[in-house]
Amino acid sequence: MPMSPIECPKNITEFVRNQGHGVKGLADIGITSLPNQYIQPEEKRFNEQKITLSKDGEDHSIPIIDMSNLEKDEIETLICNAAEKWGFFQIVNHGVPLKVLDEIKAATHWFFELSVEEKAKYLEKNSPSKNVKYGTSFSPDFEKVFEWKDHLSLFVTSEEDALAHWPLPCRDEALEYLRSTENVIRKLCNILMKGLNVHEIDGQKESLLMGCKRMNLTFYPKCPNPELTFGTGPHSDASIITILLQDDVGGLYVRRFDDESWIHVPSIDGALVVNVGDVLQILSNGKYKSAEHLVIPNASKSRVSVPIFVHPTSNDVIGPLQEIIDKGAKPIYKDVLFSDYIGHFFSKPHDGKATVEFAKF
Ligand code: OGA
Ligand code: NI
Repeated sequence: MPMSPIECPKNITEFVRNQGHGVKGLADIGITSLPNQYIQPEEKRFNEQKITLSKDGEDHSIPIIDMSNLEKDEIETLICNAAEKWGFFQIVNHGVPLKVLDEIKAATHWFFELSVEEKAKYLEKNSPSKNVKYGTSFSPDFEKVFEWKDHLSLFVTSEEDALAHWPLPCRDEALEYLRSTENVIRKLCNILMKGLNVHEIDGQKESLLMGCKRMNLTFYPKCPNPELTFGTGPHSDASIITILLQDDVGGLYVRRFDDESWIHVPSIDGALVVNVGDVLQILSNGKYKSAEHLVIPNASKSRVSVPIFVHPTSNDVIGPLQEIIDKGAKPIYKDVLFSDYIGHFFSKPHDGKATVEFAKF
C-alpha cells in the first residue's frame, strides 16, 4: 500500500507548503484528526469559557453602524467612538454593491478549487510577480505551530500589474471589489482623522493613511478538531484600518478592551467588518486602539474571508501625528519606518498585541 503523505510529519510540510496542496489538501483527503503541526499547546487554545455571554445567553456584539441612515455628524461620532472603545465595528449601507461582495466571495472559492498545479504557479518560488503570493498559515518560516488556513495575497500596485498578474479565476472580481471599496475606505479615514482634529489630508497624509493596500483571499477549510487549533491566531493587524468581508460560516472573535473576554463577530449579509490597525493606534498616540482578534475554523464547512489591509507605503515614517503632539500630548510611540514595522510583524508568529511594543518608547 502506498504510504499516505499525511502519516509522516515531515511530509506534511512538503505536501501542504512546498507542493502547494495547502491545508485544503489535507481537508480534501478527508483526514479525521488534526496533524500535530497544527495542535496548539493547551494554554494557548481558545475555549468557550473565554467567550462573553450575556444573561440571555447571546454574545454581546460589536457596534453595527448604518452609513446611510443617520446625520453626518452622528455617523462620525459613532465611528470614532467605536474606534476608541472597540477597535472593531461593522458597517452596513456602505455603498459597496451586494453583487460585488457576493462575486468576490465566489471568486475566492473558484481560486481555491483550482488544481494544485494551477495554484502552485503562484507559490512564492514560482509566482511571476512578487505582488502575488499563494501560501498557507501566517508566517510559516517562523511558526512552531501552523495556522489552519490558505491564502492568496495580492499586493495592490497598479491596475496594469493586476491585469497582467492576478489569477484569472478571481482577477476581475478582486479588482472590482477594490474599486468599489475605495470610497468607503477614504470616507472612514477622513472621519477618523477628523476625530483627531486633523481636517486636511495632504499628499503626505494620504500616503501615510492609504498609500498601499493588500488584499487577501483567505480560505479556512473544514477542520477536524477545530478546538485544538487556530484558523488565524490572536493578533492585531499592522494596518491603518482593515476592511474585512466574511461569509456566513462564522468563527471570527474579537477581544474586548474592558474585560479582555472574547466576543463573536456575527456574519451579517452585506456588512463589512472594519478594524483599527496598529498603525492607526500609533498615529493617534493610543486614542484609537487596534483590537486583538482570531479565527477558529469550522468542523463541517469551509469559510472564506477577504480582508483589505490599508496601510502606509514602506518609506513612510509612522509615529504620533504632529497635530496631536502640538496640542501638548506626550508621545507614547517613537517614529519608526513602516517597512521596519511590517518586517517585524511578519518575522514572528501571531502573538496577540505584542507587535505594537516595537514602536513604544
Ligand atoms: C487577518 C484576519 C480574519 C478573518 O487576515 O488579519 O484577521 O476572518 N482575518 O479571516
Ligand atoms: Ni487580522
